[in-house]
Amino acid sequence: DRTDLEDRFGRRFAYLRLSITDVCNFRCEYCLPNGYQGKPTGFLHQSEIERLVSTFAELGIRKIRITGGEPLVRKDALEIIAHAAATPGIEKVALTTNAFNLADQAEKLKQAGLSAVNVSLDSLDPAGFERITGDKRHAKVMAGIDAALTAGIDTVKINTVLLAGLNDHELPDFMEFVRSRPISVRFIELMQTADNGDYFRKRHVSGGEVAEQLLAAGWSPIKRGETDGPAVEYAHPDYAGRIGLITPYAAGFCDGCNRLRVTARGGLRLCLFGNGTHDLRPLLQDDADRPALKQSIFDALFQKDVSHFLHKGDYGDTPNLASTGG
Ligand code: GTP
Ligand code: 5AD
Ligand code: SF4
Repeated sequence: DRTDLEDRFGRRFAYLRLSITDVCNFRCEYCLPNGYQGKPTGFLHQSEIERLVSTFAELGIRKIRITGGEPLVRKDALEIIAHAAATPGIEKVALTTNAFNLADQAEKLKQAGLSAVNVSLDSLDPAGFERITGDKRHAKVMAGIDAALTAGIDTVKINTVLLAGLNDHELPDFMEFVRSRPISVRFIELMQTADNGDYFRKRHVSGGEVAEQLLAAGWSPIKRGETDGPAVEYAHPDYAGRIGLITPYAAGFCDGCNRLRVTARGGLRLCLFGNGTHDLRPLLQDDADRPALKQSIFDALFQKDVSHFLHKGDYGDTPNLASTGG
């Protein structure tokens, strides 16, 4: 692992999550229950993103995940992905999307060099889906998932936020879904943000309950790779796909942190929760600033904390996951 990016605790960073917009066209109850309300302008321009990506690649980033908001609402999303995929040093370009437009775009995304797509899908049931996301396009999202497989995108995953009373009965359905599909479904524990406190208290379910059910049904945990996300994935000999768990409240979750984030307006975030944002945008205007940009990234990285403080009820300065790129 040849990255130059290392923090005070010896964690190394080869994975960058890059948000390209805060705008989202869904209204997931736990994230943007009233839809996106901010100003839909002022996000990094394509040229700024390209400087950022090539600089991080020079520092040792090998995998870039494009996030939002909903990244596919940006008209130049394909070009951004194509540029990242063609950048020397970048081995994987991934996308996290609500898939509203994936059925139409999967083929082009594959051609642009996209290697992985994670689709947010909180229910397999159309009514449950609409209840949680406020969107009627369940069938389109499902078609998007199959289009990604058909297009030959190497890795297709599903993100399902565990919600008490809304989808926590769907584990058997999701297992059935991955029986013949080579997809990894990851159940994510709901995270508290500055905006969703009441919702969090009402709907949070611990991933431990799902882990017990998986073990009882013959699933076993597998080893996590160097640029893999935070999920612990389970496999089963009778199933083509996997079931995973993302449990940010579990002890030791942050020990394996391997990612940095950049917000849609060019702020470097060392953690989804807290540690503030370090504005990189002034140094993204001119190629001549590249050495200063690198120094600024190193200076910020030195301030990365050992852990988030979610277990103390401290959600830092995190309003919702859309505005920090998840
Ligand atoms: P892979 O590279 O495919 O494993 O992706 P990923 O799981 O890192 O990315 P994705 O965008 O699909 O995120 C899934 C969930 O994990 C989201 O809810 C993210 O907010 C959450 N997540 C990702 N990284 C972190 C992290 O560093 N800290 C916390 N608390 N949550 C994270
Ligand atoms: N807690 C857990 N997951 C969340 N996501 C958005 N907000 C939250 C939250 N408060 C998920 C989305 C998407 C992923 C990027 O983050 O459902 O799948
Ligand atoms: Fe949009 Fe994702 Fe937030 Fe849902 S969770 S509102 S799809 S950004």
